[in-house]
Amino acid sequence: MGILNFPADFAWGVATSAQQIEGAAGADGRGESIWDRFATEPGRVLDGSRPDPACDHYRRWREDLERLRWLGVNAYRFSTAWPRVLPTGRGPAHAAGLDFYSRLVDALLGAGITPYLTLNHWDLPQALQDAGGWPARATAFAFADYADQVARRLGDRVRFWVTHNEPWCVATLGYEEGAHAPGGRNPQDGLRAAHHLLLSHGLAAERIRAVAPGAQVGIVLNLSPGWPATDSEADRDAARQFDGLFNRWYLDPLFRGRYPADAIADRVRRGHLPAGELPFLAEGDLARISAPLDYLGVNYYGRTIVTAGQDGQPRAVPAAPPAELTEMGWEVHPEGLASVLQRLVREYAPPALYITENGAAFADPPAAGGRIADPRRVSYLREHLVAAHQALSSGVPLAGYFAWTLLDNFEWNQGYTKRFGLFGVDFATGERTPKDSAFWYRETIAAQAVAAGAAP
Ligand code: FCB
Repeated sequence: MGILNFPADFAWGVATSAQQIEGAAGADGRGESIWDRFATEPGRVLDGSRPDPACDHYRRWREDLERLRWLGVNAYRFSTAWPRVLPTGRGPAHAAGLDFYSRLVDALLGAGITPYLTLNHWDLPQALQDAGGWPARATAFAFADYADQVARRLGDRVRFWVTHNEPWCVATLGYEEGAHAPGGRNPQDGLRAAHHLLLSHGLAAERIRAVAPGAQVGIVLNLSPGWPATDSEADRDAARQFDGLFNRWYLDPLFRGRYPADAIADRVRRGHLPAGELPFLAEGDLARISAPLDYLGVNYYGRTIVTAGQDGQPRAVPAAPPAELTEMGWEVHPEGLASVLQRLVREYAPPALYITENGAAFADPPAAGGRIADPRRVSYLREHLVAAHQALSSGVPLAGYFAWTLLDNFEWNQGYTKRFGLFGVDFATGERTPKDSAFWYRETIAAQAVAAGAAP
C-alpha cells in the first residue's frame, strides 16, 4: 500500500449550490426561481418536495462555515442565487441578496478558505423563464449583467469564478428531456439554450475580467466517457454520438471555436437542425465563447455505457454486475476520471483543471454515537482521489478537488431521496451529523495524501 501525496498548493474543497441548500426562498426579497416553480408542479420531483427549507443554510450558514473549518478545506465552491441578487433577473442588484454573499465571502476569507463562486447553478429567475428562458438570446445578455453586478460587489475579494455549472444539464435535461426545470421537451429549444449558455459564458467572462482584473474565470462541465456496450460497429458509433452530444458539444466551442461537425450531422439526421446552418449562431459568437479560459472545472460521477437504440441513436445502459452502482444508478468507475482528465489534456490542452464535483449518493444508516457510518462513500472518494493522483502524475495540470457535497440536500428532481453529503441532514429539524466520510476527508486533507490500496 503506497501513500500518494498531493502538491502543497492543491485546492482541497467541498462544493454546494444555493438552490440545494439555502432554503429561505422568499426571505429578504428573494425572487422565484425556475426550480421553486417546477417543484410545485405535480410529478416533477420524486418525493413531491420543495427546495425550501432544504438545509436552511441561508440562516444557518455560520454553523456550516464551522463545518468547513473543521474539515480543514482550503477552498469552498458555492453558488450565488440569481433570484436573490436580482429577484426578477434584471435591473439593479438587490442589496440584501448581495449582502448575504458578501458576508459569506468575508467569513470564508477570515477562515483561510478560498471562495470559488459559481454564478449559475441552475436557479434561473422565473421572470426570465417567462420571457423565454435560456432558449431566448436575451437571457445571455441578462446573465452577463448579473455577472457584472456580482463581480462589482465581490470581485475585490473573490478570485475564482465559475460562469455556469453543467450547461448540458440545463439545456438537455431542462429544455429537451423535461426532467429538470423548466421541464421543456423541444430539441430546438435545447440547442438554443446550449448556445445561449455558452454565449453568456463568454459575455460574462468579459464583464468579470473588466471589473476584477486578476480574476480566474472558468466554466464547469459534467463530462463522462462514453463506453460502447459491445465492440459492434453500431455500439461504437453510438458511443461516438454520445460523446459528441454530451462532451464535445461544449468542449469544442469553448476550446476550438466551433461545434463538432459529426455531432451537428447527428442532429441534422434527427431533424433537430436544418442542414447547412446553425440557426442560433450570430456573427462573433464563437470568438466570444472560445476566449481563453483560465481553467476548466470537471464534474465527474461515472462513465456512460452506450448502446445503439433501434433507431441508431445512443442509449445509456446500466452497468451489469459485478459493477457497483450508487443510489443514483450511476456506476462507480474511478478509472473514467483519470481517462477524462487525460483526454482533456491531449485534445484540448486546458491551462488548468479542477475536479469541481465528485461524490456519491448511498442510502445511509441512522446516526449512531453522533456519526453516520458510510463506508461505501469513503471508498468512492478514496478511489477517485487515487485516480486524480494518477492523472496528476501523468502530467495533468490538476489544481484541486471538490467533494460533492458538504450537506445532504435538495437533489433536484430526486428531492430529498438521494444523500450525497459528508454531513447527514435531518430535514425535519435541520440537524447535521457528520458521516465517517467527513472524518475521512478531514484526515486526508490534513495529510494532503491518500492511501493507494487501503481497505475502506
Ligand atoms: C451534479 C450537480 C449537482 C448535484 C450532483 C449530484 O450534476 O451539479 O448540483 O446535483 O450532480
